[in-house]
Amino acid sequence: MTQSFDPLHLARGRSWRNRFMLAPLTNTQSHLDGTLSDEEIEWLVARARGGFGLVMTAAAYVAPSGKAWAGQLGISGDEHLPGLERLATALWEHGAVSSVQLHHGGKRADAAVSGVPLVSAFDEPAKGARALSPGEIEQVVADFAAAARRAEQAGFDGAEIHGAHGYLLTQFLEPRNARDDGWGGDYAGRTRIVREVIAAIRAGTGPDFQLGMRLSPERHGLVLDEMVTLAGEVMAAGELDYLDMSLWDVRKQPHEEIDRVRYELLLDAFTALERHATRLGVAGAIASAADVRWSLDQGVDYVVVGKGAMVDHAFATHAIADEDYTAPAFPVGRDHLRREFLGERFVDYFSRGWPHLVAD
Ligand SMILES: Cc1cc2nc3c(=O)[nH]c(=O)nc-3n(C[C@H](O)[C@H](O)[C@H](O)COP(=O)(O)O)c2cc1C
Repeated sequence: MTQSFDPLHLARGRSWRNRFMLAPLTNTQSHLDGTLSDEEIEWLVARARGGFGLVMTAAAYVAPSGKAWAGQLGISGDEHLPGLERLATALWEHGAVSSVQLHHGGKRADAAVSGVPLVSAFDEPAKGARALSPGEIEQVVADFAAAARRAEQAGFDGAEIHGAHGYLLTQFLEPRNARDDGWGGDYAGRTRIVREVIAAIRAGTGPDFQLGMRLSPERHGLVLDEMVTLAGEVMAAGELDYLDMSLWDVRKQPHEEIDRVRYELLLDAFTALERHATRLGVAGAIASAADVRWSLDQGVDYVVVGKGAMVDHAFATHAIADEDYTAPAFPVGRDHLRREFLGERFVDYFSRGWPHLVAD
C-alpha cells in the first residue's frame, strides 16, 4: 500500500520526497510584465518549506497572445528568466522538486490584458476569437517548447503542459474543432497538438527534464471516452513523466448519465489505465490525511492539493505527521490567508473569485 511519505521515483529527473504536489494556483501576484514578484516567490517557497514533494507554479503564459489575466506569471521571454531562476533556486534549497505550468489561454485569454486579438482552434465570433492558421499553430507548439527550455535554463526540474480547463489545448481537443487541415476533425487531428507539444518539448530539453501534463476529463465540450483514450496513449508513449487529472472533486461521479453506467467514479476511468512509466496524480477537494489515504488507495501515485495548501502552507508535513489531520475549514479570514503567506493581491483575487470561502 502506498504511503503519503513514500518518495516518488519518476522515469526522469529527481525523485519527489513524498506523494504531495502543490496544485497550480493562479494568484495574480506577478508584475504586469509577467516577471515574478517577491510575494509570489514567498507564497511558493513557503509550500516548499511546508513539505510538498513537488511545487508547481501558477499557469504561466508561453506567448503574449495566451495571457489571460493581469498579474499572470510569464515564461514567454528571456526577461522572465531572472525571477524564475531565483524561484527555482529557493525551491531546490527547501527540498522540493519544481515545475512551471505552461499555459496558453486561447479564446479564454484576455485581449484587453494581452493587447493581442483572441485566437483559438476554430473561429468563434461570439467570443471574438479567430482560428489560428497552420503556421500559427506551429508557432504555438514552438512557444511551448521555448518556454520549457526557459524553465530548464532557469533551473526548474521540469514543466507541466496545461491541457485542462478549456484553455487553448482543450479548445483543440473538443469535437467542435472541425478543422480539415490535420489539426482538427477526427480524434487524431484534434489531439495532434498535444502530441506535437510533447514532442517539441522533449526535443528541446535534456534527458532529465521532468515533463507532466494536466488534463480535464470532461465538460468544456470534451468527451470522457476520448480523454480516457488520450490519457492512455500519452502514458503509453513514454514521453510524459506524470499525468495530473483535474477532477475538482476526487470522489466525483462522471458528469454524463451514460458514463455513470460504466464508471462508478470519474477517477476509476483513469486508475484502470495501463500507466507504463508515467505517474498518475489527481486533484480535487483533498483536504485531510484521510482524503490523501483514500486517493492513494484508489491507486493514484500522488495527490495534488490546491485550496488545502492555501489555508495551510505545511499541509504536506502535517498530513504526513498526523493521520487525523484536517486542513483549516473554509470560510477563512483574510488574516488567516495572510499568515499563510498569501500576498494582498492573491487574497483579493481569491475573495473575488471564491467569495463564499473568504469570511471577511
Ligand atoms: C485560486 C485558484 C487558482 C487556480 N489556478 C489554476 C491554474 O493556474 N492552473 C490550473 O491548472 N488549475 C488552477 N486551479 C485549479 C487547482 O489547481 C485545483 O485543481 C483545484 O482547485 C481543485 O483542487 P483543490 O480542491 O485541492 O483546490 C486553481 C484553483 C484555484 C482555487
